[in-house]
Amino acid sequence: MYTVPKLKSYSAAALDKAVEKLLASVKHEAEAIRTEGEWKTFRDRWMGRKNGILTQINDLWLKPAPKDAKRDVGRRVNEIKAVVEQAVRHAQDIQLHLQSTVPSAKESADRLDITLPGIRRPLGAEHPVIKTMHEIVYVFRNLGYSVQEGPVIETDYYNFEALNFPPNHPARDTQDTLFIAGQESKPQRERLLLRTHTSPVQIRTMEKMKPPIRIVIPGTVHRNDPPDASHSPMFHQVEGLAVDANISFCDLKGTLDHAMKALFGSSVKTSFRPSFFPFTEPSAEMLVSCFICGGSGKRGTEPCRPCKQTGWIEILGCGMVDPSVYGFVNYDPKKVSGFAFGMGADRIAILKYGVDDIQLFFNGDVRFLEQFS
Ligand code: PHE
Repeated sequence: MYTVPKLKSYSAAALDKAVEKLLASVKHEAEAIRTEGEWKTFRDRWMGRKNGILTQINDLWLKPAPKDAKRDVGRRVNEIKAVVEQAVRHAQDIQLHLQSTVPSAKESADRLDITLPGIRRPLGAEHPVIKTMHEIVYVFRNLGYSVQEGPVIETDYYNFEALNFPPNHPARDTQDTLFIAGQESKPQRERLLLRTHTSPVQIRTMEKMKPPIRIVIPGTVHRNDPPDASHSPMFHQVEGLAVDANISFCDLKGTLDHAMKALFGSSVKTSFRPSFFPFTEPSAEMLVSCFICGGSGKRGTEPCRPCKQTGWIEILGCGMVDPSVYGFVNYDPKKVSGFAFGMGADRIAILKYGVDDIQLFFNGDVRFLEQFS
């Protein structure tokens, strides 16, 4: 085993010889490394701060060197450092390589069985909710819609006020908002919250773009709902907004009817019933005929559960953009009109894939998720 000698002479020839011996030793030791443990011992023996060989040559060679030899010794010590550091790095690469290509580096330290199969990395797959969102977005992209996104942490202004929820209006209570703590010193409109819907991105988009607008907005939203089979405090929405001259409720119905047929099959029917949202007037809820039982409410002799035997499934909220919303974004309500809609992507994924518990989407159990690959 190599040990650092004291130098009796600082002549160039003596230094050459000492350096040569040291470098031969580091090379020899590096080549013998087979395991991670051996590599660590090697690293510490040569590079350990306290008593490593590099420290020792500093103490035993450089420090006591006579003045006129200091420069030369310093240069050689630096070269040695570079070589040793490189040897340690290189030995680690080789050691890692051995470890990943043979079952146990110890067992077959000096053999490399190149016939062993490599490491098989399982193929990833799109999460079913994200996949559903992509499918929805795709349908609207084909109609000429573009995609917009916005922040998940929103201000009260964008989540509520500009969407025509006045301060303290009871409609705010329907949204079970999660507020960010410590915002009390700010004016209400600046207070932060987790957006309860993707609708604030309607406002953000209209603020920066003039009509005609045709956008879809996919994203996560949060509500203070305790988790159960059909609720999650975090879920996903896809929002849509079309604003132009002369857009009517007919356009809303035609667009959404087409989209539902593209998503669930050409035989589904759609139906609208009155609803209320502060930012649309009139507002509606859209239903699609149950694509599981075909609208009959029955599966054979059993009742159809997803549509609760009604033959219809509630799929989204929609309506004509309320003219008072245009006031917040400097659009002229006499010149433009438009419609908006919003749907829950998790709910649609649940229906599409026949999943009976929304929590399965978010528990991260690979056995569930790999069924969608
Ligand atoms: N933002 C509404 C919600 O989350 C849905 C909606 C969007 C309704 C657009 C009308 C228009 O409940």
